[in-house]
Amino acid sequence: MSVQSKPNIQLPSGAIRPIVILISGSGSNMRSLVETAEREDWAERLKAQVVAVISNRPDAKGLDWARSAGLITQVLDHRGFDSREAFDAALMRLIDGHQPALVLLAGFMRILTPDFVEHYQGRLINIHPSVLPAFPGLHTHRRALEAGCGFAGATVHQVTAALDHGPILAQAVVPVLPGDTEQTLAQRVLSQEHRIYPQAVAAWLQSH
Ligand code: GAR
Repeated sequence: MSVQSKPNIQLPSGAIRPIVILISGSGSNMRSLVETAEREDWAERLKAQVVAVISNRPDAKGLDWARSAGLITQVLDHRGFDSREAFDAALMRLIDGHQPALVLLAGFMRILTPDFVEHYQGRLINIHPSVLPAFPGLHTHRRALEAGCGFAGATVHQVTAALDHGPILAQAVVPVLPGDTEQTLAQRVLSQEHRIYPQAVAAWLQSH
């Protein structure tokens, strides 16, 4: 049911606050978080370190990079569970094995149960590819184009029981350009996601 690769790094002991990242796909936000944490020496400066990456999809591309970066990777395939509740309960057990101070959703494409959200209340953060509260849910770029928006963007927010709501920690805005497709717009937004997600997490760590 769950598959785990061995880490090839020594985790610092003591006061380091573990961070767990959840992904479902390419994991570019995960990579940006991990690389920023390294570059800015979060372990020393913010007493925090990304320790594990968990995916609900065995074929998530981001897992390869996470493994090569020496992170613990774990897969919990949601298709092996009868209910959302059962999957989330197993996921909580997996996450809690790392005793995380912070759980980061980075393209984790699952609707979370209220129990899960409550369990991590105050230490669960998400990035969403729209300027919330506009366009919660899926296909944000397509919907922004269809609506004729002049701007699109991304939001880092604390997770609450309501889908894609919760206190906003950071936002970025990009222009919608003539001839944009879903893909070109998504790429422009994504490059901003890679900037604001690590910034917002660093700010959260600084203030907690
Ligand atoms: C990102 O654009 C992220 O904002 C979005 O999925 C993409 C994941 O890309 N998340 C959601 O839509 C969550 N509702 P990545 O795997 O390369 O980080």
